[in-house]
Amino acid sequence: MKITRRQLMGGALGAVLLPAGVRAAAPATLRAGPVERQLAPGGYPPTALWGYEGSAPGPEIRLPQNARLERRLVNGLPQATSVHWHGIRIDNAMDGVPGLTQEAVAPGGQFDYAFRLPDAGTFWYHAHNRSTEQVARGLHGALIVEEAEGRPEIDAEEVLLLDDWRMTPEAALSDDFDNLHDRSHAGRIGNYVTTNGRGDWSRTVRRHERLRLRLVNVANARIFELALAGLEGWVVALDGMPLDRPRPVQETLVLAPAQRADLIVDVTVAAGETAYLVHLTREGGMAQAAFEVTGQAAKAPRPAPHALPPNPNTGLPELTGARRLDLRMEGGAMGRLSDAMTPQGPKSMQGLTQEGLVWALNGFAGLPEAPLAEAARGETLRIALVNDTAFPHGMHLHGHHFREVLPDRLGPLRDTILVERGTRREIAMVADNPGDWLFHCHMLGHQAAGMKTWLRVA
Ligand code: C2O
Ligand code: CU
Repeated sequence: MKITRRQLMGGALGAVLLPAGVRAAAPATLRAGPVERQLAPGGYPPTALWGYEGSAPGPEIRLPQNARLERRLVNGLPQATSVHWHGIRIDNAMDGVPGLTQEAVAPGGQFDYAFRLPDAGTFWYHAHNRSTEQVARGLHGALIVEEAEGRPEIDAEEVLLLDDWRMTPEAALSDDFDNLHDRSHAGRIGNYVTTNGRGDWSRTVRRHERLRLRLVNVANARIFELALAGLEGWVVALDGMPLDRPRPVQETLVLAPAQRADLIVDVTVAAGETAYLVHLTREGGMAQAAFEVTGQAAKAPRPAPHALPPNPNTGLPELTGARRLDLRMEGGAMGRLSDAMTPQGPKSMQGLTQEGLVWALNGFAGLPEAPLAEAARGETLRIALVNDTAFPHGMHLHGHHFREVLPDRLGPLRDTILVERGTRREIAMVADNPGDWLFHCHMLGHQAAGMKTWLRVA
């Protein structure tokens, strides 16, 4: 058949005229599959990783607030997978949790994710099946939701994914993802620390330039302790949610796995010098990101930044009369766990270890059939997180943000809270997003080894 130009145009016009709901256009793909990249410094061979759309970390997804995100996950991996959109107050069916909100997508299969982005901020997406392995292999990326209005005045912005990788001397990824020693201790800690997949991330800046840095800890288990050198900075948002008032970065900024911080930083050092985002380790400060100062942007520093515009529906919860719950963390090396309930019935410590289970929440190791609580929609819950273990845990709740209950006030909204060993922290949340929501440790090996539960919001 001869197709004339006119017919083609007619077809195209016809497609445009269809009402929006009828359009059959396939969503953009998010293909998970093997990739190779130069991860280690030059001189080493490239490393086999897993990524999205041919890159590890995956491509940045950036959309305006209230937009719909639509992606067709296509699974080109040799294992089942799913995608979780971390920190988004999402429609439950799109939350990406196998066994709770969807079936894991088998190799060769696909799943369409489509949902609205209610909050502006710094979020991320990552695999949520066998995540100890899949996130460690590179299946994660930034999800940036831009403010509709009231964006800060800045000269440049950088999204910085902070990560560590466990590499062999040949620059391959070490594939001991199920290592029981890691699981029962601090988790899988890598030996090669990167920013956006580079060991030597840097850019040029000018003195007095103002940057927005969107920091995301995408590591499996590493807690990043950070500091600024040659930069004056303010935290303007945590875990995607704006602070009421920018908070000057004075000493260290701690980011547990999955936590984010939005910083506004001004370059204070002179041309020819270098400013740093510093990673504080036991060995001293390492350059996590370097900013080489090449000139001067303005004569004088600017006044402190304004707060970002608040996200909707973020009022303070009413604590009077709120239901109280305890979530006791037990187990791990040097812990006191002797037995626990599991989805397969009660088990002794030896029986647990055989299943790779070493942690429990309220005496249960693994995902219980019954939720930690069933909340009425709109109900406020106060949950005491009691860390009766010898390790810190970064606890993440899906679908909601919460605030820490402090002696004199409520803390900022967060979706992940670091609970240091032997401590008790209390959070308060308004259960206003209906569905079944996972609540787990984001040290991913801990999650795999039992530290997870869930909440049902009616
Ligand atoms: Cu970032 Cu349940 O995960
Ligand atoms: Cu943990």
